[in-house]
Amino acid sequence: MADIKASLKARLNPRLYYALSKLKRTLRRSPSPTTRSSLLKYHFAGEPSAQAALDIFRGEWASRFPPPFSELEAGKNSLFEDARVRWALSQFGDVQGKSILELGPLEGGHSYMLERAGFGSVLAIEVNTHAYLKCLITKEITGLSHTRFLCGDFIKYLRNSPPKFDAVFACGVLYHMESPAELIELLSQVTDQVFIWTHHYAPRNPQQAAGFSGPQAAEYKGFSHTLFRKDYGDALDFAGFCGGPHRGWTWMKREDILACLKYFGFVDIRTSFDELDHPNGPAFTIVAKKGTVSKDRTEV
Ligand SMILES: C[S@@+](CC[C@H](N)C(=O)[O-])C[C@H]1O[C@@H](n2cnc3c(N)ncnc32)[C@H](O)[C@@H]1O
Repeated sequence: MADIKASLKARLNPRLYYALSKLKRTLRRSPSPTTRSSLLKYHFAGEPSAQAALDIFRGEWASRFPPPFSELEAGKNSLFEDARVRWALSQFGDVQGKSILELGPLEGGHSYMLERAGFGSVLAIEVNTHAYLKCLITKEITGLSHTRFLCGDFIKYLRNSPPKFDAVFACGVLYHMESPAELIELLSQVTDQVFIWTHHYAPRNPQQAAGFSGPQAAEYKGFSHTLFRKDYGDALDFAGFCGGPHRGWTWMKREDILACLKYFGFVDIRTSFDELDHPNGPAFTIVAKKGTVSKDRTEV
């Protein structure tokens, strides 16, 4: 170090060397006004409130809070009062005191509905750190007491021999996976009943097919299927981006998703909310169960 200093001193103009040394000493002595003000920007010195907590992520919220919190300003989508969750609950049967694993809770709106419905424990795993922190704010505002949020990749959690759950809730995540078939197989290891809401590949017009590569033949543990991939592209620039940790979407055909569930042991499969004209592409909901096929099942 002393050698470097001596060689710099010898080579630099003495006035420049002196100015640089002075700057170094000043930087060491005290934080610059810029550093102090950039730290102060993380302070909220107003009266404490739920809105102040929400405003940490102002402009990034997707969900509108339900009564008695509906005066709060967050997002616009009714994820705390979602008909798809009500349908899932009607298919699950008795959920009182049961355990559920939720994949990708985003802001905790569905977690809130699941806890309110009576699940005794909701474990929700979120990969996006902003979304994870928003879930914690939701938990604090709405007083969730049986819900835990973990920050990380649920695929890594599922690969690591987790405990069994009475149900799994997988809304809006299957088509974000590198290998959707792997997710279905991992779910079959941890539960006997799963709810899925997902897009499926069935383009209705050239716009819906734009950007997808494929068909790509794929095989996972003996299950043959077809994949269609698309990079996230500009979607990554959106502050409320809610995709997965990989480079893009991987969509399957509707019939492949249902066949995959059967291949990995789910026998009682019900579908609903078929939306071929969903603005982001065809979508539907599924509740798939193991065991015996019940009589009220809709044939798929
Ligand atoms: C399209 S959003 C759906 C959010 C919510 N479940 C819903 O249906 O409104 C996908 C969510 O899953 C999260 N996610 C995607 N891949 C994940 C992964 N591998 N592990 C954990 N969370 C993931 C995203 O960060 C995002 O919050």
